[in-house]
Amino acid sequence: MSLNSKDLLGIRELTVEEINLILDTATPMKDILKRKIKKVPTLRGRTIVTFFYEPSTRTRSSFDLAAKYLSADTIAISPSTSSVVKGESLKDTALTIEAMGANIIIIRHSAAGSPHLLAKTVRASVINAGDGTHEHPTQALLDMYTIREKKGTLKGLKVAILGDILHSRVARSNIWGLTKMGAEVRVTGPATLMPAEIEKLGVKVYMSVEEALEGVDVINVLRIQLERQQQGLFPSIREYARLFGLNKQRLALARPDALVLHPGPMNRGVEIAPEIADGTQSVIVEQVTNGVAIRMALLYLLSGEEDSNEITG
Ligand code: CP
Repeated sequence: MSLNSKDLLGIRELTVEEINLILDTATPMKDILKRKIKKVPTLRGRTIVTFFYEPSTRTRSSFDLAAKYLSADTIAISPSTSSVVKGESLKDTALTIEAMGANIIIIRHSAAGSPHLLAKTVRASVINAGDGTHEHPTQALLDMYTIREKKGTLKGLKVAILGDILHSRVARSNIWGLTKMGAEVRVTGPATLMPAEIEKLGVKVYMSVEEALEGVDVINVLRIQLERQQQGLFPSIREYARLFGLNKQRLALARPDALVLHPGPMNRGVEIAPEIADGTQSVIVEQVTNGVAIRMALLYLLSGEEDSNEITG
């Protein structure tokens, strides 16, 4: 089996079978990460380009490492030091990169739909590494992988997403993915940070954080995206922590074996208490490792290597 598209633009476009294929392929990739020498020749001769118009630590580094562990060649284009500052368009920049031999272009952009536009322009595969407030598909895939690894399944789980739902591409991709995979998804946070008609995505909306967390198997905590905020959408940071932050008392409302996820970057003491972030129920560090495995799986699948090369070379 292979993916239906040359690109990975969003979770919304993926079938259940495709999501399972990506998650299943990430397991042998994770085995490679456990080795002392984390390098296999699987994508030797392929060229992978990261193109990030917005800041990133986890996503950019993990794509870069994923490509290197599979022996692909990588380059990173930074808008601030490229001809983008001279006014070159996204389309012309992408065509230029492709003309040099890029096989996969990974893009993060503040404008929703940018990766989709790019995918129509180039023959190379395009991976969406986050487009505005729209989607962050690889984050949702690594979140689903982490939950499935710990719980054995996604079907029937109760998952609460807590925080700034309005500005969160992570929330949207998680909602599309988890509901497709048969989980019950609840969203909660300040009313001013709750998108209108979010119920249409098949989630339950809770205005009370406490009610939302009652009996859940998973809590996915989101940061407040101050860089995308208008003033006055939420109380002060201190009030936000008091009213919506995940603390010991609120975590106790979930199942005793509930997992705590956070996509990062974290604001400790705001949306999550430090002792929860570092506590026994937290899988935040594992999410980061799984992010590399998921991105290795995607690079492998989008390279069309599944019929020719063994993953381990
Ligand atoms: N989760 C996430 O996208 O983190 P970065 O912004 O650091 O890539």
